[in-house]
Amino acid sequence: MSYQYSYKELLARAERINWRVEDLIGGDKSLDFSKPFLPESLARTADLDFLSPPERRTLNQIRGHAYLSIFGLVEEFILPFVIDQARKDVHGDEYRERALLEFAGEEAKHIHLFRRFREEFADGFGVACEVIGPPKAIAARVLSHPTLSVALLTLHIEWMVQRHFQESVQEDASLDAQFKNLLLHHWMEELQHAQLDTLMVEALTADISSSEIEAGIAGYIALGGFLDEGLKQQTLFDLAALEKAISRTLDASARERFIEAQHQANRWTYIGSGMTHPKFLETLGKVSPQGRRMIEQASPGFC
Ligand SMILES: [Fe+2]
Ligand SMILES: [Fe+2]
Repeated sequence: MSYQYSYKELLARAERINWRVEDLIGGDKSLDFSKPFLPESLARTADLDFLSPPERRTLNQIRGHAYLSIFGLVEEFILPFVIDQARKDVHGDEYRERALLEFAGEEAKHIHLFRRFREEFADGFGVACEVIGPPKAIAARVLSHPTLSVALLTLHIEWMVQRHFQESVQEDASLDAQFKNLLLHHWMEELQHAQLDTLMVEALTADISSSEIEAGIAGYIALGGFLDEGLKQQTLFDLAALEKAISRTLDASARERFIEAQHQANRWTYIGSGMTHPKFLETLGKVSPQGRRMIEQASPGFC
């Protein structure tokens, strides 16, 4: 075994973490719209000087809403992917089987958690915010790629969540308490997922040909392009939601600056912060040193 963790240990860790969706949202646990939802390193609103500070906070909250929605989307394909992996060897290693089913159960809970937060957001924000989708169509498109491509994208996403929390959310005292609590509880379970994905990538690549590995990496790159198209569209939706929320239309040059800066902020949030994560690169490099070099060369465009 080339990694420090095992299915048995990951299952034991997952079983020690117990929280319910109802513990995090609903009743007296509501969102505080006087606070930002996302850390500045992800929202990147500070340089948009054509917006007033309250308008920048409104944009931050719109980006927070999109974060809930985009995680809802990606978990819609991670869930069937993990169930498929668990089905492959139902009568094999019991720790592997139970760890993967626990993983799937947690992703189903996260989908529910993100949806409940979106409902709370819709009740409090007052303006409808459009989001990319629908989740089922996006999941079908993602799952049409080779299994290794989906596994690499999943690995990227799970390490990305670790980075978001550890590098920018944890120490940020300005964030809304409920939203921060969501990010904390998601992060706690995602660490086990990232490590399980690592073991899955290792198993998937143990006995496949180099051309299958190449096809898997090419599929991962194609999925990154697909995600980027979605992020461009989400940026336009966020602009429309912002103009509605602040009851004014930005002029052409402000719109242009908004789209450029916010598309790049979205790229960093969902693509760059995953593809440059040292743990993701470590696993990719073990699968294909050449693939790792390709991703490292492409990454500055997504940071
Ligand atoms: Fe999750
Ligand atoms: Fe996960």
